[in-house]
Amino acid sequence: MADIDQIAILQLGPGDARAGLALSTEAHWNQNEADWNFFLAKGIVFGVRDTAGHLVATRLVATAALLPYTSEDAWISMVLVTENWRRRGLATRLVDACLDTATKLGLTTWLDATPAGAAVYGPLGFTPTIQLRRLRLGNAPTSTAVAPLRSGQPTEFIACDISAMGFDRRDLLRELEGRAGSRLVSNGDAMALVRDGRIARHIGPLFADGPAHALAMVRDIAASETGPLLIDAVANQDAFLKGLTEMGWTIERPFQRMRFGRATTQPAELPFAVAGPEYG
Ligand SMILES: CC(C)(COP(=O)(O)OP(=O)(O)OC[C@H]1O[C@@H](n2cnc3c(N)ncnc32)[C@H](O)[C@@H]1OP(=O)(O)O)[C@@H](O)C(=O)NCCC(=O)NCCS
Repeated sequence: MADIDQIAILQLGPGDARAGLALSTEAHWNQNEADWNFFLAKGIVFGVRDTAGHLVATRLVATAALLPYTSEDAWISMVLVTENWRRRGLATRLVDACLDTATKLGLTTWLDATPAGAAVYGPLGFTPTIQLRRLRLGNAPTSTAVAPLRSGQPTEFIACDISAMGFDRRDLLRELEGRAGSRLVSNGDAMALVRDGRIARHIGPLFADGPAHALAMVRDIAASETGPLLIDAVANQDAFLKGLTEMGWTIERPFQRMRFGRATTQPAELPFAVAGPEYG
């Protein structure tokens, strides 16, 4: 293997979606090709290719993406290093490349870190904010005794998201909502997006005026779905988290939200579940 300090960091393009997907699949993540296409089209994605021993093709071995949401805030995600290239400084170099770009553009950066990722980001100067919990429901129960779900209003959904994030991500929400298989649903007191993932459907963001309404929304969604489901709940929402585990959801892993740079905004209201660790 080459010396990591000498290895080139490249900016990836639209043709790299499949190779990116191979990396996130190796890590057992839920992102699908549509997610990679979005990052490659709207974000700045850095990568490292292994050129040694490949006469014709090269293999993508590491990535990190910077996704600007506004002129002030961006998300970092898809920080992935293939197994046999780990612990050699590649993730640190790639996240540094994202931070350099963010600094030039005057962006505060945010991310949702896995425990292994948090070990990389802390020394780079990221500080912790809220915590999340990834939960899974093995198979959505088949039930007919639930309130019918109505379609949610996109404008109301965007307004809730701005209030929860402190900045405007309408382009992202429109993209996620517009995908085949996505549903923006409402029960009058709560609203959530349900979308496809590689291995499970994902619920989030989810906004509600209280934990009981948020739990009712999740119950109604689960009853109207068939396969496995994932949700990234905000850990501070104790009653919601407790209710989910009582409904049969199991906690898979924590995520630590972290920020690099000054706090640009103060979110008015926490959501019950987020759009996903890759999007915030
Ligand atoms: C997390 C991940 C990106 C780290 O990539 P990497 O190239 O090995 O990271 P680096 O070599 O830059 O690590 C820098 C430092 O972070 C810490 N670190 C990295 N991985 C760690 C781990 N698994 N456990 C504990 N500390 C870790 C170490 O202090 C390391 O320095 P050291 O090797 O000198 O001790 C990689 O393990 C991976 O792809 N994991 C699966 C996907 C994932 O969790 N991505 C992060 C999403 S937020």
